[in-house]
This record gives sequence, structure tokens and C-alpha cells, in this order.
Amino acid sequence: MGAPGSGKGTQSQRLVERFGIPQISTGDLLRSAVTRGTEYGRRAKAAMDSGQLVADEIVLGIIRERLAERDAQRGFILDGFPRNLAQAQALRTMLTGIGAPLDAVILFEVDYAEIIKRISGRRSCPQCGRVFNLAEAAGAAPRCDHCAEHPPLVQRRDDEESTVRRRLEVYERETRPLAQHYAAQGLLRTIDADAPVEEVTARLLATLSSVPDTAA
Ligand code: AP5
Repeated sequence: MGAPGSGKGTQSQRLVERFGIPQISTGDLLRSAVTRGTEYGRRAKAAMDSGQLVADEIVLGIIRERLAERDAQRGFILDGFPRNLAQAQALRTMLTGIGAPLDAVILFEVDYAEIIKRISGRRSCPQCGRVFNLAEAAGAAPRCDHCAEHPPLVQRRDDEESTVRRRLEVYERETRPLAQHYAAQGLLRTIDADAPVEEVTARLLATLSSVPDTAA
């Protein structure tokens, strides 16, 4: 959990590299559905472009399909899901059904001025989806250094400033209250994510090392 631009995607990618379990980002899955022009994508596009939440029914359908894939059977990192109480309740039912309860819910806290700065500089690779920032990329037309063809990085449609402000409002109204929900279950771990990427990773790993392993 965390506001737009708080570093959920960046840190999830690091956990993928470290633990070899998939990152399941509803934002990435929805963007891919929009690009491919699927039924879910067509229905999600308007809400995404205006910074609103996509209907629960669509998001839950996408998550249900993704959790059934083979690579998710050894565990997974949910990034940007759930985002409201209805999604949290549906997730609980799904995870109970597959015998895989949540180990922990991580909340990234970042000052909003820093968030606006990060999002305005965010660029991503259209091929592998890896996230970068202009603050760290050299050159006028930054390219992906992970893909063989080094495609030029692109800016997300919903990263325009007025849309970002709407996303922050939606986060405060719909998603932040979930922190209380998970704190009451003893699952919430809050991390001060207003620090350089490496430092946040170190804090995240330290936090995760104190989480009991439900698979053990
Ligand atoms: P989604 O794609 O999930 O967007 P988001 O939650 O708004 O989060 P972001 O991807 O913007 O930020 P992030 O926290 O991953 O930060 P990042 O690591 O990229 O959702 C998009 C839309 O899809 C939603 O608005 C909604 O319409 C829909 N949607 C998605 N899930 C949904 C759901 N469950 N229900 C309903 N609708 C849903 O970092 C940001 C930038 O900062 C990058 O450039 C990065 O390089 C840089 N950065 C990262 N960490 C640091 C650091 N420590 N220091 C400096 N820079 C940093």
C-alpha cells in the first residue's frame, strides 16, 4: 500500500529479483489490458485516464485470473491491490480459498511534495515495464538499459499533474482507511519511504525479516 508514486512498483521489482516470486500489480495488469484492447481494458480505460478507481468487478476478475497462474503458486507480492474495503474483503475470501493467507501488509509513507516531484520525473519502458526517473537517467531521450533494443522510455498518461492530484484524493478517501483495517488484524507494517531507493529497500527487507512466515 502507499500513495501514487510512493515507490510500490520500484520496491516490488527489487523483491522479485531477491525472492523470485512475481509482482502482481493491478495498475500494470490494467495498463496491459488497455494496450491489448481486451474487454477488461476497454471498460477500465476511462477511469484510469481520469485518476479514478476502476470498478471492483474488473479488478477482481483480473486478480483472480492472475493468481491462478503457475508462477503465483509459491507466493506473490500484491502491488496496488487491494485499494478499498470491498477489494480487501474479496481478497481475503480468495486467499482463504487457496490456503494462502497474507503474511504482511506494507504501507509506504512519503511526503506529498516529494510524490509530485517523483511522478513528474517518472518514465517507464514500454517493453519490460521497468520504472525509471529522469532524476537518475542521463541524456535528453532516456532509454531502457535492461531491454536488448534499448527502447525509449515513455511517460504514463495518468501522470499529468491534475490527474495525479485526483489520484491522491482518491487514495486518501478510498485506500488510506485500509491501513486501519489491516492494523486491526496485526498485519500492517508502516515504512518511512521518504529516502533514497536503496535505503527504502534496506528498511523493507528489515521489516520483512521480522514477519512470521505462514508457509513455514
Ligand atoms: P497504479 O499503476 O497502481 O498507480 P499508483 O498506485 O497510483 O502507483 P504508481 O504506479 O503511480 O506509483 P508507485 O507507488 O508504484 O511508485 P513508483 O515505484 O512507480 O494504478 C494506476 C491506475 O490504475 C489507478 O489510478 C486506477 O485507475 C487503476 N487501478 C490500479 N489498481 C487498482 C485497484 N486495485 N482498484 C481499482 N483501480 C485500480 O515510483 C514513482 C517514481 O518515483 C519513479 O520514477 C521511481 O523511479 C521514483 N522513485 C521510487 N522510489 C524512489 C525513492 N525512494 N526516491 C526517489 N525516487 C523514487
